[in-house]
Amino acid sequence: MIFLGEFYIRTAHRGTGLGKALMEKVAEQAGIKDRCKGMNWLLRASNDSTWQFYRRFNAIDMTTQHEWRFMRVKGDSDAHSS
Ligand SMILES: CC(C)(COP(=O)(O)OP(=O)(O)OC[C@H]1O[C@@H](n2cnc3c(N)ncnc32)[C@H](O)[C@@H]1OP(=O)(O)O)[C@@H](O)C(=O)NCCC(=O)NCCS
Repeated sequence: MIFLGEFYIRTAHRGTGLGKALMEKVAEQAGIKDRCKGMNWLLRASNDSTWQFYRRFNAIDMTTQHEWRFMRVKGDSDAHSS
């Protein structure tokens, strides 16, 4: 199982196949076809556009489909962020 920090293609380079190629490469490197149980990452619930992209790769919404919760204990330096 791997956790991605963030999946992001700079605006100027979008729509050229880079996102798809990167997604496939990361999955391949992780061993998604044989030794890796899955890839995980976070997506803001409001980011509907990107959700549509991930659905093309059969990504599952772990919150609505598997009732997972994203948990955090805040450190003092993070007290005011969302
Ligand atoms: C989503 C994102 C990765 C797509 O990258 P991209 O390089 O523009 O995508 P590609 O050019 O590789 O597109 C691949 C395919 O997906 C489709 N696609 C791209 N963005 C899409 C979207 N938002 N919704 C539906 N389909 C999309 C393309 O039309 C293309 O289809 P095709 O294979 O039939 O031609 C990019 O827009 C991005 O970085 N967005 C911000 C992501 C973000 O918010 N990250 C933080 C949370 S993880």
